[in-house]
Amino acid sequence: MIVPATARQRARVLHEELHEHNYRYYVLDDPVITDAEYDRLLRELQQLEATHPELVTPDSPTRRVGAAPLKAFGQVHHELRMLSLDNAFDDEELADFDRRVRERLGVETIEYAAEPKLDGVAVSLLYEDGVLVRGATRGDGETGEDITQNVRTIDGVPLRLTGDGIPRVLEVRGEVYIPHRGFEQLNRQAIAQEQKPFVNPRNAAAGSLRQLDPKITAARPLEMYCYGVGLVEGQLPERHSEILTRLGEWRLRVYPGIGRVQGLAGCIDYYQSLEQQRATLAFDIDGVVFKVDRLDQQQQLGFVSRAPRWAIARKFPAEEAQTRVAGIDVQVGRTGAITPVARLEPVFVGGVTVTNATLHNADEVHRKDVRKGDTVIVRRAGDVIPEVVRVIREKRKKGARRFKMPATCPECDSAVERVEGEAVARCTGGLFCPAQRREAIKHFASRRAMDIDGLGDKLVDQLVETGLIHDVSDLFQLDVEEFSGLERMAEKSAANLVNALDQSKETTLERFVYALGIREVGEATARILAQEFGDLEPLMQAQVDTLQEIHDIGPVVAQHIAGFFSESHNREVIRKLRTAGVHWKPVATTSVLSLKGKTFVLTGALSMPRNELKDRLQAAGARVTGSVSKKTDYVVVGDSPGSKADKARELGIKILDEAECLKNI
Ligand code: IVH
Repeated sequence: MIVPATARQRARVLHEELHEHNYRYYVLDDPVITDAEYDRLLRELQQLEATHPELVTPDSPTRRVGAAPLKAFGQVHHELRMLSLDNAFDDEELADFDRRVRERLGVETIEYAAEPKLDGVAVSLLYEDGVLVRGATRGDGETGEDITQNVRTIDGVPLRLTGDGIPRVLEVRGEVYIPHRGFEQLNRQAIAQEQKPFVNPRNAAAGSLRQLDPKITAARPLEMYCYGVGLVEGQLPERHSEILTRLGEWRLRVYPGIGRVQGLAGCIDYYQSLEQQRATLAFDIDGVVFKVDRLDQQQQLGFVSRAPRWAIARKFPAEEAQTRVAGIDVQVGRTGAITPVARLEPVFVGGVTVTNATLHNADEVHRKDVRKGDTVIVRRAGDVIPEVVRVIREKRKKGARRFKMPATCPECDSAVERVEGEAVARCTGGLFCPAQRREAIKHFASRRAMDIDGLGDKLVDQLVETGLIHDVSDLFQLDVEEFSGLERMAEKSAANLVNALDQSKETTLERFVYALGIREVGEATARILAQEFGDLEPLMQAQVDTLQEIHDIGPVVAQHIAGFFSESHNREVIRKLRTAGVHWKPVATTSVLSLKGKTFVLTGALSMPRNELKDRLQAAGARVTGSVSKKTDYVVVGDSPGSKADKARELGIKILDEAECLKNI
């Protein structure tokens, strides 16, 4: 059907008007029409689009909600890694940061951009030709989840950017959060519907973004502030603060009070003033982020592992509260570590109700001398486990007894051992201990490991208790009937769980290695192992000394890894998992081992500090020496190289420029 010109024109006008009102309402907080008028315009456009479906465009104001529920989220590879931030917990640490920056740049005073550290969920938005084409979570920084249809439902996120000079490709990064008012309302609703209320706004925001049905996300009061950019194809200003201003001009939401401050003193002033405003802000923040404002300086500073050297989060002090210790229990962890835990009378601190606090280990309990019945100060900061800060001795009741670590495991009765020089006591029961088994299975199922949706902690406890499973491989043998025989497990949830288990079978090598729960092998180490060995078999066969040759893997970790794979029951569990269908694609191994034993000489002016390239080459197993000889394998030349380049040519040694060299690392 041909769309009449009048309809097309009217649709265009409605687009413009609705985008404008949306922007005024959600970004500027300054509406010029009533909600009813807005609804009328929106309905008119909906009707036009219903009659002439050709008029529907992806950036139409009617397209925020309406996509069908997904079965699972797709994956998004972040072309530029989404980094985290280093923390400074007091002014001294902030001063150290500023000193390091000044020294590295050789500059007396640094200009910083200062912003609140929003307590929400990091999200990346991708705009192509000004149109929102993708939204993604941070995930592990390299791979996140595709939540496009969910971010589209956030009213403050423009479906289309407006203004001049918008780069062809623009990846915007920011934090999605739920403001206090929205959070309270959400929880009132939850309680009225006899659902469990959310613990805090951050969890509510994270949960809302992870909904497969965008209608649920749309009903949550999510907001977003943008704090930076990722991938860009096009021109942007040369200062971070100016980029943010530009984002605001294009109608993205940017916190209005962003500062540009001079040096450490400026940072401290900004911090103090924001700390004072904190209680009056409409949303949670947990500190201030300072970023070197000039991009050329940022580039010069670069990164260390997961965080930039040019930014720091100055955290607000953790909140504290007073309560009473109802008792001290011990908990057995995945690796058998026995942790004393204080059971507390519930107390509201740092945004949640706390009922337990870790006491870390026996030494810590004795140092703080925490006893059953004591009145204590507890502290909770961000996501950190709450802890007991100190005991109020004046309030101790007579006869309060000192805590004693049990000599045997409370779960399996095996002996508790404390290795010389280690603070931690461990149950020696290994996987015979039901607590260790439970925790190993929880870890295996967790989001960053095998990501088995619906296999919560309580369920794992039940599965182990009832003897339905003994190790992780048994999970894949259970069917809907067996699951639905469990407490609080309807047939529908059982079917979902079987489905989730099935889906989890397709995984990656690094996730699988992490999921195995080898001591001291966290995500970063699992990634290194995956990259280094490419597949599981070579890793399983690696000897301690081979493992130790890998940069970042020390003798203790190497022992744990080799020890784990030498145990026949671990190999058997792995075999059963693979038979059940758990699989991954082999990883193309990095050239790390191929640089091993190669000798490099660096000459000329490089774009990064010479020591940095040297570190990176050495990390990849190469040797870096000062002079060219017949033993040299490669000479890396920068600008205006000297005689070393000539000598290399003379000797017929391979010459690389910096880019070629980096490609090999
Ligand atoms: S910048 C390269 N700025 O904090 C630096 N992050 O601990 C990347 N966050 O994952 C982050 N407010 O989710 C930056 N104004 C802000 C922020 C902020 C909150 C979060 C963000 C990030 C985490 C890092």
